[in-house]
Amino acid sequence: MTNETLEKYDLDHASIVAWLREEDPARLAELWARADAVRKAHVGDAVHLRGLIEISNHCARECGYCGLRAGNRDLERYRMPEDEIIACAHDAKTYQYGTVVLQSGEDYGITAEWMASVIRRIKTETGLAVTLSLGERTDEELALWREAGANRYLLRFETSDPDLYRLIHPPLKGRPERSRIEMLRALQSLGYEAGSGVMVGIPGQTYETLARDIETFRGLDLDMIGIGPYISHPATPLGEGAWRRPIDEHDQAPNTELMTYKAVALTRLACPEANIPSTTALATINTAQGRELGLMRGANIVMPNLTPVKYRALYEIYPAKACINETSGECRTCLTARIRSIGREIGQGPGERKRRSDA
Ligand code: 5AD
Ligand code: FES
Repeated sequence: MTNETLEKYDLDHASIVAWLREEDPARLAELWARADAVRKAHVGDAVHLRGLIEISNHCARECGYCGLRAGNRDLERYRMPEDEIIACAHDAKTYQYGTVVLQSGEDYGITAEWMASVIRRIKTETGLAVTLSLGERTDEELALWREAGANRYLLRFETSDPDLYRLIHPPLKGRPERSRIEMLRALQSLGYEAGSGVMVGIPGQTYETLARDIETFRGLDLDMIGIGPYISHPATPLGEGAWRRPIDEHDQAPNTELMTYKAVALTRLACPEANIPSTTALATINTAQGRELGLMRGANIVMPNLTPVKYRALYEIYPAKACINETSGECRTCLTARIRSIGREIGQGPGERKRRSDA
């Protein structure tokens, strides 16, 4: 496929919905090939590694799908001490990852000042790119962390349907409600690279909604887009079958591996320059090949886990998460081999979002 035909490739709402409903293997093979060609033309063959450190599983929120929700009293909670986080960042440096991602539940026990000092230490001691994924925080906190050296922020908007969003994300009492879209715009104006994403197949998500999610990625000009299948967690309202809104079963987007590949491939076509991970959730529903197939159908990033093994099982967003028993070194070896097995290279350097105009 030439660059010219890629440029002309434009997806409107109806054609995104039609692709999401497509079942014909030959047509789908065409979608995978297009997504892979657009990935290669715009972000190349390098697969960048982002070392994930799950720094705390405390969470103040009650998201209807997530195992870390405050109401899940059966989960033992942890917050990593500063020195352990720094040690993981040094592991990232040793493993030649270009980026560390610091992720947690929405944990107000993580104070703005403490986080800023952790970021400063990582920047001074390792020089790595720092991505934060700490939930909804104030503009003042985001500005402080940016000044401390954080480069990127991930905040999935989870669904572009405002009614579905409200149903599954109860507001936090005592804190002003702000849409995640607004927060993503604030992140962009603070100079962060901004990342977002959605789950595929949340109960109540229709094909139309999922198509709009992809159009929303494009409208926001996101630098990073994470997409994984929804995986039911029994200790949550959605997992128990509650908080469902009645929709026609023919309209429900299924939370399957195939639907996730379609969403990843279409996102690549809609956002050719974005950094798109092949997610852990995808690797969880297909341990044998999920990572590789994600990378072959539009993705260009993987996020090896760097969290100390003693905490891994406690970061249980959903059950049977991939990599809970592997060490950081094992994840590195595993992912490196998987990337090479499909003829791709390991990305060097921070792997920031490249814009056409930078070239
Ligand atoms: N299944 C799949 N993904 C989930 N996440 C949260 N709960 C689940 C679940 N049950 C995703 C959300 C969140 C990210 C960190 O994990 O999209 O933004
Ligand atoms: Fe962790 Fe494969 S990436 S074991």
